Parts: sequence; structure tokens; C-alpha cells
Amino acid sequence: MSDALVAYVNNRFVPLEEATVHIEDRGFQFADGVYEVVACFGGTFLDLAPHLDRLQRSLDAVAIAMPCPRPELEALLQQAYARNPFQDAMVYIQVTRGRAARAHLLHEEIAPTLVITVRQLPQPSDAKLAQGAVGITLRDIRWKRCDIKSIALLASVMGKLEAKRAGADEAFWTDAHGHLLEGCATNILAVIDGVLVTHPLDHQVLGGITRHMALQIAAELGIAVEARPWRLDEPGLSECMLTSTTNAVLPVCRLDGRPIGDGRPGAVTLRLRARMVERLRQLSERGRHG
Ligand code: PDD
Repeated sequence: MSDALVAYVNNRFVPLEEATVHIEDRGFQFADGVYEVVACFGGTFLDLAPHLDRLQRSLDAVAIAMPCPRPELEALLQQAYARNPFQDAMVYIQVTRGRAARAHLLHEEIAPTLVITVRQLPQPSDAKLAQGAVGITLRDIRWKRCDIKSIALLASVMGKLEAKRAGADEAFWTDAHGHLLEGCATNILAVIDGVLVTHPLDHQVLGGITRHMALQIAAELGIAVEARPWRLDEPGLSECMLTSTTNAVLPVCRLDGRPIGDGRPGAVTLRLRARMVERLRQLSERGRHG
């Protein structure tokens, strides 16, 4: 297997080094596009249908057409995975409105740009798993449609920079009332009086596919679940965790310099992570052998 990476752009697969879009692509000039990140384990995409449903919702919200019929997109994703040298991969899908002379409002019909890239799915280190992630909170400075998976991620980049400066892994946005919303690229959940709590789905958060999976697993394990606004200073709060395609479930053990609970990964978090990681391992194994 060659280690050269291959990307899909301008309707064809090309070596990543040669994969370019025009400077008048509206993604470049206006961040006029949306994206998805899907994990692929041994050739099986995790929750592909909900990811593509979310892509469709994002596209509909900004009036960009799906670049090709869904079965064709699924075939392209399979090909993109197969052309790259990773057993467990994260597959990035970006759709922009396309290429046109720069004007906010377009008067002509243009074809959307579809880009697909594939990278190794990152794994949290053993140390990170043992100690848990470290976070900071920041007042949310993003726009009012965070349910759309927009490629306009400048606020998230700024949040990540702030987190890094503070020696943290992630920055979590709070609303005017101090409610925890989500991270720059993650959702956040807490265990409060034994109940798994996370912000309800509205325009302030992305409906994370991993968040949904975590809530489902919790229900299967008989853990009570509640979607409601919550704050870090609630008396019964004993655990925090983040979820995302690239992290599965990861304990968050310090926020704003203070320990969460006893400062170690919590029991509920570890149960959810174990169950989720087991599912992912099974997918990966099935791909390897089947
Ligand atoms: N980020 N919230 C935000 C703002 C995100 O950007 C993401 C995903 C999530 C988690 O969603 P999911 O569980 O569907 O991955 C929540 C991706 C991974 C990224 O931007 O790389």
C-alpha cells in the first residue's frame, strides 16, 4: 500500500499535494459552505446516515444543493477511504457554494464544490485518558446558528488558541447565564446527581452524532438522561465529559483550573467510553476480517 494520500476535488481523485480549489471559490472568500467529519473503522463508516442527514440539513439551511445524489456521495466516500492508507480514518467532507466572481449575492447558477480528504483517526493518549482532558470556559462569541455545521470556524480557532495558551485541551462556550453549551469542536455533558445532563438541541449547539450515541448508550445502561441547560456550579455535579467523532467519549477532569468531582475520570464517563469504544472496535475488527 502506498502512503501517498489522495483527495477528491473538482470531480476527481488526485494526490493530496495536487488537490486545489480556485481562489474565487466561495468557501475561500466567504466561508460559504458546510462540512462533516465521519469516522471510518476498517471500511465501515460509523453512523454514516445521521452524518449525511446532518449534511443535508446544513446544506438546506444555507440553500446549497447536495453536489451529487446521496448513493453517489456514499460511493465516493468509500473510494476515498479505500484510496488512503488508514485502517481507522476520519473522513472530511466539505461542500461550498462553488466558484464565481466575488459578490455576496449570486445571479447565476453554479455547481457546488465537493472536497473529500482522509486522515488517520486520532487516538487520545493513554495519559490523556488516565488524567482526563483539561478545559477552559469562554463566553460564546459565535453566530446564532451553531446547529449548522458551517466551515466559518474562526471563533472556534480563537477558542482553541485561548485553550492552548491556558494549557488546556478545549474551550467550552457559555451563554449569558453561565450555562455550558459545547466546546469548539466537541459537545459537553455532565453527571449531576447521577443524571447525565447536556444542553438541549437548539441554535446554540451542534447536534453531535457522538452526543446522540452517548445518550443512547446511557439509556441502554439504565443511566437517567436529561437535556437541559446546566452550570458548572450546580451542587450535585460530579463528572464532565466531552464527545466528538474524533474523541468518542473523553473525561474532562479540570475546568478553569478547578477539578471536576474528585479530579479523576468519573465512573459514568468510563462506562460510557468503554461501551462506545467496544462498539468501534467491533466495527474495525469486522472490517479487518470481513
Ligand atoms: N467537530 N460541536 C461542534 C462545534 C463540533 O465542531 C463538533 C464536531 C461537535 C461534535 O459532533 P460529532 O459528535 O458529530 O463529531 C460538537 C468535528 C469533529 C470537527 O470539526 O473536526
